[in-house]
Amino acid sequence: MSDRQLETAADPQFKADVLNGLRGPRRAIPARWFYDERGSELFDDITRLPEYYPTRTETALLQSCSADLAARIGPGAAVIEFGAGSATKTPLLLEAIAPSAYVPIDISGDYLRSSADILQSRFPGLKVIPVEADFTGDVELPEILGASQRLGFFPGSTIGNFVPRSSVDLLRHMRDILGEGAKLLIGFDRIKPDEVLIPAYDDMSGVTAAFNLNLLHRINGELNGNIPVEAFVHDVRWNDMQSRIEMHLRCLRNVEFRVSGEAFAMKAGESIHTENSHKYDLRGLRLLLRAGAWTPIADYSDQKGWFTLVLAEAAPLFAAP
Ligand code: AVJ
Repeated sequence: MSDRQLETAADPQFKADVLNGLRGPRRAIPARWFYDERGSELFDDITRLPEYYPTRTETALLQSCSADLAARIGPGAAVIEFGAGSATKTPLLLEAIAPSAYVPIDISGDYLRSSADILQSRFPGLKVIPVEADFTGDVELPEILGASQRLGFFPGSTIGNFVPRSSVDLLRHMRDILGEGAKLLIGFDRIKPDEVLIPAYDDMSGVTAAFNLNLLHRINGELNGNIPVEAFVHDVRWNDMQSRIEMHLRCLRNVEFRVSGEAFAMKAGESIHTENSHKYDLRGLRLLLRAGAWTPIADYSDQKGWFTLVLAEAAPLFAAP
């Protein structure tokens, strides 16, 4: 295939993010680009790793808080999930609260439709209405939802990928989408000892390393790149000042490569920042929600305090001081 044909096939936003991100001096590529087909498979493997506690812990929390959630939300709600939904967590929530409609919002149309089909066959009486959109941008909810109680669902500590100011923007945006009277169920990963956090992002079997490095393979494949992937290693750091795990791709020797016809050079030891995963304490996450126009009404944490699910309600637009 010629360069030009490869260029047309590539997502223009991916190309722009990669080229801008590689130009430096502080190189960084947004974490959303991890999830091509191979990346999504690898993430799935991550969720089953012994070291990766978040998925397991949040799933158990959803089970243990289901009765309380059902009482607080009531039946017949419309669940709006930000993302295509997980095959385990979403059914747990739907079984718990008996909603009337389920609206997953995701940019990846094919994946969205196939997971919505599977869910529809598991819940035949439920209105399943997938919406193909980038939920950080304009989203129109289906009119058929009417005046039913809206419940936003944002599990997985995906909020942790966003720096605090973007988290606040996103939370406010979700409040705008869902409207007055809505509720939100959202998962946060908690601050915990390095001995637990670091292995969760740097596992023994190297799955997270493969997930991180897959980004370079994706760039080579989709953006006509020749990055020498074998010169890079997975690098995990705890940034205490910013309360986050960072993933980087560090190169071990001086490298030169091209992506989409543009030339890049990196010196040994330099790195590309590929992900932030922010961790919160209870008061910090409550404050973040309030800054994002959501008032926490209940929260559920595991015994160790490793993960927290929060139920919040849309803050009134005009509140007393
Ligand atoms: C999907 C953003 C919640 O930050 O824990 C897992 C992604 N990256 N291992 C996380 C991830 C490396 C994950 N989130």
